[in-house]
Amino acid sequence: MADQSNLVVAIDGPAASGKGTLARRLADILNLRYLDTGSLYRATGLSVIRAGGDLKSEQDAVKAAENLDLSTFSAEELRSEEAGVAASHVAFLPSVRAVLLDFQRSVAANPGADFSGAILDGRDIGTVVCRDADAKIFVTAALEVRIKRRLEELKGRGETVIEARVRDDMTARDQRDRDRSVSPLKKADDAWELDTSGMNADEALAEALGHIRGTGPQ
Ligand code: DC
Repeated sequence: MADQSNLVVAIDGPAASGKGTLARRLADILNLRYLDTGSLYRATGLSVIRAGGDLKSEQDAVKAAENLDLSTFSAEELRSEEAGVAASHVAFLPSVRAVLLDFQRSVAANPGADFSGAILDGRDIGTVVCRDADAKIFVTAALEVRIKRRLEELKGRGETVIEARVRDDMTARDQRDRDRSVSPLKKADDAWELDTSGMNADEALAEALGHIRGTGPQ
């Protein structure tokens, strides 16, 4: 069980559902250490590409996960579509997930003395990484809404975007995330679902805070 002085919040959901923005803002307000677990898979995928390896090779991907150094990647590199697609390939491999699991659990258990707890976002936080989390939120949004958000995000970063490509990548990634046998994207039975389709970031934040304050240990 989680230590009552250490609030653990699990946020899961598909790509561009709004979970990252929500988790970051909740972390600020509740003084929680934030871990974007997708960035671990993104960095692993990019490391394989950098080393000239094969994204489908378990050996190449495990080696990359074991030697992961997040500081060698810029935020832009990690958020690129290339990184997202590479991540969803390596995330498919059970041995890669096992390597990254220990690190994620250690952050949740020991967020650091300056924090009141930890908030992790990903695909399997409520179902696997932090099964005993104090609050679990499963963030969703309609596919069309998520495609629109991702297009705006990429345009905002000055990337050239082709809508059909973003649509195809997101649909394929959703399918890989949901259909894989190990840690598929899935709402935990005890998670609360927040559909952000018709909400802006402020509205989603208010809903989530209300939920955590109503069910959390504070
Ligand atoms: O949330 P994101 O777009 O940064 O995630 C990138 C990929 O990493 C996504 O396709 C699924 C994978 N992932 C995962 O399998 N488990 C997690 N806890 C986080 C991300």
